[in-house]
Amino acid sequence: MTTTITITGAGGQIGYALLFRIAAGDMLGPDERVRLRLLEIPQGMRAAEGAALELQDGAFALLEDVEVTDAAGTGFDGCDIALLVGARPRGPGMERADLLAANAGIFGPQGRAIAENASPGVRVTVVGNPANTNALIAAASTDGVPAERFTALTRLDENRARAQLALALDAPVASIRRVPIWGNHSASQFPDISHATVDGRPVAEALAERMDDVPAWLEETFIPRVAKRGAEIIEVRGSSSVASAANATIEHTRDWVLGTDDWTSAGVVSHGEYGVPEGLVSSFPVRSVDGEWRIVEGLEMDAWAQRRLDATVAELVAEREAVRVLGVL
Ligand code: NAD
Ligand code: LMR
Repeated sequence: MTTTITITGAGGQIGYALLFRIAAGDMLGPDERVRLRLLEIPQGMRAAEGAALELQDGAFALLEDVEVTDAAGTGFDGCDIALLVGARPRGPGMERADLLAANAGIFGPQGRAIAENASPGVRVTVVGNPANTNALIAAASTDGVPAERFTALTRLDENRARAQLALALDAPVASIRRVPIWGNHSASQFPDISHATVDGRPVAEALAERMDDVPAWLEETFIPRVAKRGAEIIEVRGSSSVASAANATIEHTRDWVLGTDDWTSAGVVSHGEYGVPEGLVSSFPVRSVDGEWRIVEGLEMDAWAQRRLDATVAELVAEREAVRVLGVL
């Protein structure tokens, strides 16, 4: 079988970190051939063309074809998976929501081009920031493609949360499970350890053996560290995360297609679960079953967790209002 994958912003940093791993089979496995469509704007074409030359030189057995284009219709033609990366990244001192005005205009036209050209079962992963609201814009701009087909990347936040817990517990990161991210891919997000386990034991119990005040550590250290990790990377590296973002994009998309055996996190359209207003693209704990994300329902939330969820959802509501004012929704 061959899967057609469109990567927007393929000439940029994350694009460069994605392409070779996809061609090597990291996303869809060692038996699935891939056809890559690299969609750029005119200024990014040379970089994307250069990446296409290097893809040839990689002589990847699974890579059937590479096409570089700045025409959305061609870029999304017959695509099964669209990775919407192309957008401006933030710089030091900016919040991701500051990118709304710069990037929101990209996702309506791309949503329409997907509806007109992509294959009927297309899966869309939005990476470009602010990812949740950009996914909402793309989903709202399509006719005929179910909103469930548009998702936003919050897997990077979950990976960051698991890595921080592994460090705090001096445990292998693979032993940490069930750390969902709720809400927005922003500083308001809520990385939730209430159901997390380390080697099958509750993380909260393991933390309590190592520190006196777990709630204070969560509030003052863990949550801000995870939620502001993107800014920390920008400060230290001088530009926003690339390889870890590409890795999370691959994991999110792979799990969506191939399924999960446990919970993970993804920004998906709300149908009102946990009181999140219908239509918002919010991160939830999810499983992937039969090629579809399913929100894990029925989890208990104490008052503190509910306040955290309410705060991040309020930000998503405000972003939706802001793009309505901009006229892109
Ligand atoms: P970059 O500037 O290196 O690359 C962006 C590329 O997108 C450029 O080549 C540009 O020409 C292209 N582009 C711009 N508008 C386009 C359009 N309309 N169609 C097609 N291509 C277009 O940036 P980057 O470091 O690759 O980051 C890309 C985006 O991903 C940023 O918005 C960044 O904030 C976001 N990001 C999200 C996450 C996440 O977890 N959701 C993580 C890291 C970065
Ligand atoms: C990240 O989380 O690293 C990205 O969203 C980039 C950013 O602006 O923080």
